[in-house]
Amino acid sequence: MDNKYQKSIDMLNKATGLEIATSLQYMYFHVHCEELGYRYLAEMFHRISIAEMHHIEEFSERILFLGGDVEMNPSFRTLQVTDVNEMLKMAMELEQNTVENYNEWAKLSCDNKDAGTRQLFVETIAEEESHLDRFRTEFDNMKAYGENYLLLQSIAESKHANKE
Ligand SMILES: [Fe+2]
Ligand SMILES: [Fe+2]
Repeated sequence: MDNKYQKSIDMLNKATGLEIATSLQYMYFHVHCEELGYRYLAEMFHRISIAEMHHIEEFSERILFLGGDVEMNPSFRTLQVTDVNEMLKMAMELEQNTVENYNEWAKLSCDNKDAGTRQLFVETIAEEESHLDRFRTEFDNMKAYGENYLLLQSIAESKHANKE
């Protein structure tokens, strides 16, 4: 039987795939930053990885509500990027692309008379933009303070470890 929401379901599945891949990529960044002792960056990547996981859940629930099924596969394989500058660059690109895609898909949802899906994309765009903002701030800090910035994080981590 034809599902009149099939176009929405397809877009939501693409979005879910992006969220899965992005969440895994940030978890990869998290464990590496933690290993390197970069306390704040490690916490930031952890928090945002979990935020993307919530997006997986929200998009998936919407797919089921529309009568479709979730594919639940990552849209790309995790890249093994271990340089902090490169991590931040990749994270900014991911958020930027996600914002562009969701804007496009919000518009298409509207054209397909599916305001609920449009709404979900619009709400998610606001969160992705706040991630982009966080990554930009960290990227600028890295540019301005470089190794010193990372050193400060290592000191914070040592202080913290000594308190435990
Ligand atoms: Fe997301
Ligand atoms: Fe994001």
